[in-house]
Amino acid sequence: MKILLINGPNLNLLGLREPDIYGRQSYAQLIDYIQQSAQELELEVDCFQSNHEGAIIDAIQAAYGKYAGIIINPAAYTHSSIAILDALKAVALPAVEVHLSAVEQREAFRQVSYTGMACLKTISGQGAKGYREAMRFLKQHLQSQA
Ligand code: DQA
Repeated sequence: MKILLINGPNLNLLGLREPDIYGRQSYAQLIDYIQQSAQELELEVDCFQSNHEGAIIDAIQAAYGKYAGIIINPAAYTHSSIAILDALKAVALPAVEVHLSAVEQREAFRQVSYTGMACLKTISGQGAKGYREAMRFLKQHLQSQA
């Protein structure tokens, strides 16, 4: 079962970036944790990170026919990108949204998630464990549809 995992802008700066909110783990350490979890869950996960909206849209479009599902942390694009929402809707792959922080407890401008409107579920505030939970959920969902 192949899953595409997408991380949006500034997540490449994990560790350095607002550690009180996002933790001290680097992006490379997060990817190691994701790959370790994928192995344990017997999933094949390809990870992609970009700071560019168009590159994220291209990755979502290219996922069609290649991946069974998408896990996405669109970062700040969560709250602004109708284009990423439309891309997720266009390919119609089962998708799960992840946020490291508890966005629902943060600023008012983070209370809207456009991208979440195309996702089966949103997991927030669990740090790196949220990605593992998203993988577990997506696997279960895909198996139930098979
Ligand atoms: C984030 C939350 C977003 O509001 C923020 O813009 C991010 C990271 C998170 O993982 O908690 O860049 O998606």
